[in-house]
Amino acid sequence: MWDYTEKVLDLFYNPKNQGAIADADQTGIAVVFGEVGSIACGDALRLHLKIEVDSDKILDARFQTFGCTSAIASSSALTEIIKGLTLDEALNISNRDIADYLGGLPEAKMHCSVMGQEALEAAIYKYRGIEVEHHEEDDGNLICRCFSVSENRIRRVVIENNLTTVEQVTSYVKAGGGCSACAAEIEDLITTIQQEKEITAARVAAELETSQNRSLTTVQKISLIQTVLQDVRPILIADGGDVELYDVEGDVVKVLLKGACGTCESSTATLKNAIEVRLRERVLPNLVVEAVA
Ligand code: FES
Repeated sequence: MWDYTEKVLDLFYNPKNQGAIADADQTGIAVVFGEVGSIACGDALRLHLKIEVDSDKILDARFQTFGCTSAIASSSALTEIIKGLTLDEALNISNRDIADYLGGLPEAKMHCSVMGQEALEAAIYKYRGIEVEHHEEDDGNLICRCFSVSENRIRRVVIENNLTTVEQVTSYVKAGGGCSACAAEIEDLITTIQQEKEITAARVAAELETSQNRSLTTVQKISLIQTVLQDVRPILIADGGDVELYDVEGDVVKVLLKGACGTCESSTATLKNAIEVRLRERVLPNLVVEAVA
């Protein structure tokens, strides 16, 4: 018997927002759904969104799921979390936010929260007309053939949830939970990600140490900006995007957003949250990032 929180049990016994949303019959309103999982594999989720076109706001969210207690509770929690958010705000919701809303999930059930986050992305990308394959696992090397899980997808859950073991990865995205042939590769990937984190942490610490009252030459500034962008790239690449430095004019850092980042309407959030904040912390506090077409 799993040790579920009261919130999980409450949303399982009294799920909120279950069902579909009728097709839009009003001007300025759109209805879309995103789907993940497969009934053959055990869990499947269809997330329906009702969107106010002008404001990009989620007016309503409903779900249909085929799954266990945690799948139903996670789906229900997700719909409660995202109602009233804009699509860009909703894209910032992580599986961790869903689990936190529930007061936690047993680790072996964390894949239910991941499924919710992926269904949300699928719905928003579908609404925005962005090819799912530009964001999803098909872009990366397939690591787990039993469950069709790519390197990008594993990278994402490992980074976002600070996972350190193959067993945890299995709990979050099922990879490694079948024949185990991919276990060594998953372990290698976790080690690589940890090493990358350590290198980044050491670099950030060194930069912070020298950042006090420094005056940078243009060459030093560009070099530091390049370093920060290199650190951000794995996160964007895991989401099917990428970034490249285009130019620096005074305090304005011009970048080229590529792949999914270039076509995604949440690119403004990417610029501000993923890039500008880091550049201000690690290079100069007055830098402004702009995307060039
Ligand atoms: S290939 Fe990953 S469990 Fe079989």
